Amino acid sequence: MLSERLLSKTVGIGARQLFRSKGECARTLPAPEAGHEYLLYVHIPFCDVLCPYCSFTRFPFREEAARRYFEALRRELKMIHDLGYQPPSAYIGGGTPTIMMDELERTIDYMRELFPTIKEVSSETNPPHLDRERLKRLSHMVQRFSVGVQSFDNTLLKRMDRYNKYGSAEEIVERIQSVHDMFDTFNVDMIFNFPGQTPEMVSRDIDVFRTTGANQITYYPLMASPGSEKLMQTCFHGQVDYNLEKDLYNTLFDKMTAPVEKGGAGFYATDVYTFAKDRDAMIDEYVVDYGEYVAAGCGGYSFLGDDIYTNDSSLDGYCRRIEEGTMSVASHISMGHANGKRYRMGRELFGLRLDNRAWRRDFGKYIQYDMPVEYGYLAANGAFDKNNADELTLTRKGRYLVLVMMRQIFIGMNTERDRLRTLLPECERKMFADSAAKQIAAAKAADEAAGADQ
Ligand SMILES: C[S@@+](CC[C@H](N)C(=O)[O-])C[C@H]1O[C@@H](n2cnc3c(N)ncnc32)[C@H](O)[C@@H]1O
Ligand code: SF4
Repeated sequence: MLSERLLSKTVGIGARQLFRSKGECARTLPAPEAGHEYLLYVHIPFCDVLCPYCSFTRFPFREEAARRYFEALRRELKMIHDLGYQPPSAYIGGGTPTIMMDELERTIDYMRELFPTIKEVSSETNPPHLDRERLKRLSHMVQRFSVGVQSFDNTLLKRMDRYNKYGSAEEIVERIQSVHDMFDTFNVDMIFNFPGQTPEMVSRDIDVFRTTGANQITYYPLMASPGSEKLMQTCFHGQVDYNLEKDLYNTLFDKMTAPVEKGGAGFYATDVYTFAKDRDAMIDEYVVDYGEYVAAGCGGYSFLGDDIYTNDSSLDGYCRRIEEGTMSVASHISMGHANGKRYRMGRELFGLRLDNRAWRRDFGKYIQYDMPVEYGYLAANGAFDKNNADELTLTRKGRYLVLVMMRQIFIGMNTERDRLRTLLPECERKMFADSAAKQIAAAKAADEAAGADQ
């Protein structure tokens, strides 16, 4: 427990400092480096309703604003192309990418025209958009489709204000069953460690997941920024408690990987918290496959070598920059070489295997000698299963320590996104205040309904 707390604190402080924006910089990205492969990340920042736990850059959907946005986004894709990027793969995240199908399809067509190197496209969505007719064209354009479910427990869905707009657990199951075969990989995003969630509830969620037919699941640990933590406490009537996380994680890991005959899902772990039905499934977590990526869209982060570039997180600010003919880059963070190496170490371990020969090839030493403090800390805490000149792999404890590191890095990014939100123009900030009021009202209504049922 002590090792986890220490790691959590150290990585948490480091990530908060690292992601804290240092202000304006040149409004463009550098050109790609020869021999490097960059994933393309495309952000669509609109949702029908906003969820209380979520700190991603997203705004309540309004058609006029979204049309202007998609237009600007396509212009930014062209700018990325003109810099010389030719990504092998694209990830469209949100927000809710499928919120305007005509705009999404037009954007993917254009993206494929600009970047013929793209072999596979991933896209996120929300449950109401799982409709065969709606997805007919998209299913030929996207190889991996990922729907956010979070939990199949109706009480939790009500508390997070997803039940009314995104459907009950039963409706979501039916929707997934009806479309999962349209895509090579169909992923379900879940979250564990909501206040009040028990190992039994997680285990039940996995039983329900198994009936959907989806062939992949990503089970995120709750990553609450200080801002969303307060809202969560109001909506869920409970503290976000990271002390409960390990038990929940072990429960879900065991249940996902146990053979079907023993009541498990019989899936394979493809990274610390993603599981696939097929052992050779493509590893889709873009953080694992690609260390470097270039981002288009409001609030996007580009990771290029040891540098991070962040795009304007105001909707209007983003569109205005592009309309003025510049890229949307608003700030630049230099990670430094040491942090760049830590990032690579964490990313490879997150993918469950660090290639030690490649490490020596790139940095001149095996990781045991090259990163003695980080390696030594993890080794002393029993993190490694295989630990030799070829590779490092993780024990059960090691997987959890890597999860703690990832959680703290994402909380660091979320904390910065929250801070940037307070700097948005008044009309954009007001949308969040209105949305938080709606989330609290929905949680209250859920309480009253639960009271009336008793
Ligand atoms: C950012 S959303 C975008 C796609 C879609 N709107 C959705 O709700 O799934 C992608 C996934 O990130 C995960 N997520 C968002 N906020 C999170 C948080 N604070 N902690 C853990 N996971 C989170 C959720 O599982 C969500 O489905
Ligand atoms: S979890 Fe998905 S639907 Fe909810 S606010 Fe975040 S991006 Fe939007």
